[in-house]
Amino acid sequence: MDSLRATWLERIGNAGDEAALEEIRVAAIGKKGEISLKMRELGKMTPEERQTAGPALNALKDEVNSALAAKKQALADAALDARLQAEWLDVTLPARHRRVGTIHPVSQVTEEVTAIFADMGFSVAEGPQIETDWYNFDALNIPGHHPARAEMDTFYTHRAEGDNRPPHVLRTHTSPVQIRHMEAHGAPCRVIAPGRVYRADYDQTHTPMFHQVEGLAIDRDLSMANLKWVLEEFFTAYFGTKVKTRFRASHFPFTEPSAEVDIQCSFEGGTVKVGEGDGWLEVLGSGMVHPKVLQAAGVDPAEWQGFAFGMGIDRIAMLKYGIPDLRAFFDSDLRWLRHYGFSALQVPAVHSGV
Ligand code: PHE
Repeated sequence: MDSLRATWLERIGNAGDEAALEEIRVAAIGKKGEISLKMRELGKMTPEERQTAGPALNALKDEVNSALAAKKQALADAALDARLQAEWLDVTLPARHRRVGTIHPVSQVTEEVTAIFADMGFSVAEGPQIETDWYNFDALNIPGHHPARAEMDTFYTHRAEGDNRPPHVLRTHTSPVQIRHMEAHGAPCRVIAPGRVYRADYDQTHTPMFHQVEGLAIDRDLSMANLKWVLEEFFTAYFGTKVKTRFRASHFPFTEPSAEVDIQCSFEGGTVKVGEGDGWLEVLGSGMVHPKVLQAAGVDPAEWQGFAFGMGIDRIAMLKYGIPDLRAFFDSDLRWLRHYGFSALQVPAVHSGV
């Protein structure tokens, strides 16, 4: 009886899985199991023998049953432990970064331009996009009959019936910021003014809203030579290669003398490459600030002089990133931005631990 007990308890203890356990159960206490057959033999025993063997076999059967149940539970616990171990999650790990959105070329270039001029001591000035007639035109020495003031070029706001003040305009350039800045801070000064400007125009190279960056430097003895140096420094830093400039005599009511500035480029194979070749591309207007403009802004032209320039941000963004159609800036999506190499902003998710 003892060896019977030892054998079955050992086999149960060694069972590797539930299927093995079931086989053991059938072999021990199933209908034709070893213990069951022994119990059937009780009938052939003498009453005395039966009195000791009966209870012993019953106890053994109970013991085997509970050993089977205990082993079954142990196997299930082990399986669960193994699963927990395998599927373990570290909820304290930093979350994955999501790529969302993309910086717009105009924003990126505005930042690049601002950083380069900041290195040369220029700070950023701002002004409103809805301007008065005075700041946008008169203070800049643009006379009433000037073609730039024509309704076909400029967006005017409506005045109420009977209100005879000149209407406001959507600023047609960033030059009014020159006046506002000098009025508020006087001379000397060194500022750039990037921002949106508006003109009634629409084709491959013109949109009704576009971006300019104004430059203004006023001091006692600034000259066109300083202007040329500043612009060449700028273009070289911006395009990352030495860029020659060409100054062509021009006319703006608010500068005297005035110059349109071209940068050196090649047009081979239908693409524009800045800083090489013998072609020229116009990128900005500039000149020495007109004495009347200084005066309108409350700066004494007998004491102060300086230069100003106005450059198209969209234009130089197209040139640097090889974007052929200006309109794409305003009606394109992420795929377009990625095509031109603008990557997503990295936005850290919650729990990122950075
Ligand atoms: N305001 C001029 C334009 O929009 C550019 C300019 C700015 C020219 C400053 C000279 C000086 O075309």
